[in-house]
Amino acid sequence: MLWTAALAAAALLLSACGPMLGLDVPFRGTPPAVVDAMLRLAEVTPTDVVYDLGSGDGRIPIAAARTYGARGVGYDIDPHMVSVSRENAKRAGVAVRVRFEVQDIFTASFADATVVALHLSPEFNLRLRPRLQRELKPGSRIVSQRHDMADWRPVRQIDLTVDGVVHPVYLWIVGR
Ligand SMILES: C[S@@+](CC[C@H](N)C(=O)[O-])C[C@H]1O[C@@H](n2cnc3c(N)ncnc32)[C@H](O)[C@@H]1O
Repeated sequence: MLWTAALAAAALLLSACGPMLGLDVPFRGTPPAVVDAMLRLAEVTPTDVVYDLGSGDGRIPIAAARTYGARGVGYDIDPHMVSVSRENAKRAGVAVRVRFEVQDIFTASFADATVVALHLSPEFNLRLRPRLQRELKPGSRIVSQRHDMADWRPVRQIDLTVDGVVHPVYLWIVGR
């Protein structure tokens, strides 16, 4: 009993201090076919503002701008990844439609998003969930690759196989 309580306390402490201890979610790019599936599942159009929280090399906002004419915003805590994404946006010819910033997703504002993309971890999704539900406008879409939101059930799920690996992609609509 005491042992279980100690383990639970340790897990809580670790999840709260993880980022400070360098136990963040590291960069791992979403395969292009999965990026495409996420944007299609969210039914992105030119009127959308697509945020990627933890945007890595910027591939999701860049694809949203290039393929769907949307505006894109990417936040990443790693300044190197933000520089790489800005360069990638220039190379893709969409630098005027996308913006990348060094930001911690747990403190940065994303209230003007109409679509939010996530490729993080189960813990990060759950930490973001109350803000996603409270701050986004009703009808905003959230797509997450790989990780769900526990008992907040998605309205749709697709499973994409790329190079023999199954990538679940989940869709939630705020207010539903
Ligand atoms: C798994 S990668 C996903 C990259 C991109 N979204 C994709 O799907 O290709 C996660 C990214 O989140 C960033 N990240 C981790 N913790 C973060 C935080 N607290 N705030 C902002 N970005 C964070 C990492 O630097 C990394 O680039």
